[in-house]
Amino acid sequence: MRVIAPAGGFSSPAELYRAFRALGPQPYDAVLRKIGKRYGTPPWQFLPTLSGKEALVTAFRSCEASGHERVFAVGAYTCPDVAVAGIEAGWEVEVWDLDPRTLQVVKPAETRAKVLVLSNLYGLPDTVPSFAATEAITIIDDACQAFRSSLEGIRVGLRGAIGVVSFGRGKAVCGIGGGGMLVEGATETDPRCAERPRLSIQRELQDIVRSMGFWLFEHPRMYWLPAGLPFLKLGETSIRRSFPVGPPSLTQLLHAVALVEQHQSSVLQRLHWLEAGLAQCRVVRPFAERSLPLDGTVLPIRYPILLPTAEGREQAFQHLSARGLGVSRSYPSVIQEYPELRTSIRARETPGARAVAERILTLPLHRYVTERDVDAMVKAISAIAD
Ligand SMILES: Cc1ncc(COP(=O)(O)O)c(C=O)c1O
Repeated sequence: MRVIAPAGGFSSPAELYRAFRALGPQPYDAVLRKIGKRYGTPPWQFLPTLSGKEALVTAFRSCEASGHERVFAVGAYTCPDVAVAGIEAGWEVEVWDLDPRTLQVVKPAETRAKVLVLSNLYGLPDTVPSFAATEAITIIDDACQAFRSSLEGIRVGLRGAIGVVSFGRGKAVCGIGGGGMLVEGATETDPRCAERPRLSIQRELQDIVRSMGFWLFEHPRMYWLPAGLPFLKLGETSIRRSFPVGPPSLTQLLHAVALVEQHQSSVLQRLHWLEAGLAQCRVVRPFAERSLPLDGTVLPIRYPILLPTAEGREQAFQHLSARGLGVSRSYPSVIQEYPELRTSIRARETPGARAVAERILTLPLHRYVTERDVDAMVKAISAIAD
């Protein structure tokens, strides 16, 4: 049985071992320095956290320190964890609509927001909106899904006051957890950079075993097994209002370092196939709508398309899932309508974002997707959409 995972790209044990061997005697310091160098060109500094959510909470707290009123804006169709983090930090969430053709946030005529979180969904960099001088909106450039993409020569994560990254499963740096905040101007003597966890052999061993499990079970010959275990809830969006915080393990950080050593030519190849295959089809292709380059400066984690109708989306989803082709409906609704968040987010009509929630499909781009898989996806989607 062959079942493709919707997202993937875990480093192999050999790649992790090679990354570890290159670290030297003080591995935790060395790995942080490497991440800092590779991901946050100076004067940006990488401050490690246990997750993207924790990094977002820390980012909101540093905005408070600069005297901001606590209201932030985010696109209504995004990862609900962004709202969870804002709410956890005690901030009010203001949802902005999205342009369903480009997945970009649309600034409303009036806003109370003092901070805008750009979520750069699926690796497609949002354009930073322009604001009047009186609006004074701080940008948090959330690079959890887009840390490997750049726009106009600047890496996502480094285009605002603060950047946020995650090394979780299915993110731009696909790993087993951990993340961090990117801030400009901090130095290694900054107290926020100074915290180093005492390495726990037990925690590292658990993470090594977990990481081998992820790497092994993302293979299409194995993925049917975790995909068939309902309690793992793979492919579902689950919302947890509380989450652990603290420094990441060395193994979690190693994933982030090992991944940048990997070539991403296979992702690019699949991107070319899908762009070419779906060019004549009646689906919306945000990648093409945005005229994003296909040369690797933008590296999506999944390939989003919008079907002409919600029924068509459902039909395509059922058809492709039955063939194990790694398709996903992504997030099920706009963030203000999740039962767990509804009471914390003021209701607002966001028709563009709603259209995305109803009509989006995301297609896998990772190394296990073959040209035949792409052909099968293109044929099925064209037959349903046209
Ligand atoms: C855009 C975005 N921001 C933040 C997060 C939170 O990251 P983490 O899962 O590491 O807490 C996610 C998670 O999916 C995300 O997609």
